Amino acid sequence: MIQSIFEEVMSAPEKGHLADYIPALANQPKDLFAVYIIDEKGEVLTFGDFNVVLTLQSISKVMSFIVAADNLGIDQVLEKVDVEPTGDPFNSIVRLEVAEKGKPFNPMINAGAITVASLLPGENVEARVKSVTDFISQVTAREHSVNQEVFQSEMETAYRNRAIANYLKANDYLRGTVEEALETYLQLCSIELTTEDLAKLGLFICSDGLLLTENKSLITRKTARYTKALMMTCGLYNASGKYAATIGMPMKSGVSGGVLCTVQNGQIEHLQGRMGIGVFSPMIDEIGNSVKGMDFLQKISEHYNLSVF
Ligand code: DON
Repeated sequence: MIQSIFEEVMSAPEKGHLADYIPALANQPKDLFAVYIIDEKGEVLTFGDFNVVLTLQSISKVMSFIVAADNLGIDQVLEKVDVEPTGDPFNSIVRLEVAEKGKPFNPMINAGAITVASLLPGENVEARVKSVTDFISQVTAREHSVNQEVFQSEMETAYRNRAIANYLKANDYLRGTVEEALETYLQLCSIELTTEDLAKLGLFICSDGLLLTENKSLITRKTARYTKALMMTCGLYNASGKYAATIGMPMKSGVSGGVLCTVQNGQIEHLQGRMGIGVFSPMIDEIGNSVKGMDFLQKISEHYNLSVF
């Protein structure tokens, strides 16, 4: 059945657009579509171009929050960023000026993620980025690097993100300089991985930070709980409420067309229990979520009754 859901979504007419505001992402083949699902026993289901490499983009906001929260402690991170949804686009500036004290609302929008990037352990950009790639590598069991073309392309067009970082600095929500925070954030967005890696990260998160292959806890349960709550309430930007109702699983999307999804408990064919799902299809909607990715997740959530609600 899941095979026919994949085929139905794959053959649907192309809708949406590529993330062409980042020149390096404007050239991706529009028809890529990949899914990787892994359960707690290591059983796997794969569909389509699952080995294709994508950049994390906003999915990196989850990993940087985990690393910062686990390093500094949640309470210290929460002094600089809230955990409230906004209902605004991911790159919105408006609340930084009108909300009391200009505190960013949550780590899943650009303002919050730029603040979190500045709080990462390490004294310079390189060390802060490495703290996140090292963490990802522990979970995926392979090395990850930054796609320099995507990073440079983003740096050259980062007008809004630079404005956001300036507002944050003016209100004392950034450690270090504006350029350091911006560079760190954009390098994190440009980390490369595959849907297999996304699925492993999803499984790790829904396992409350337990690395099942080694039976080892890498993060606190509190960090895992905050992460899942943030993904459910803010992970799909100003469509988070809609997808909480229609899909009902903690998820995070990025404008490259990737989606990281966590299944708390379910059964998909021979896969059972906790699962991580990585999906990639580069055509995104107006909000920034993968059109085919969200369609696929919605259909499997309904069919296999995966919602936590
Ligand atoms: O901040 C940006 O513009 C991007 N590098 C990340 C955006 C993103 O993925 C938001 N997504 N849906």
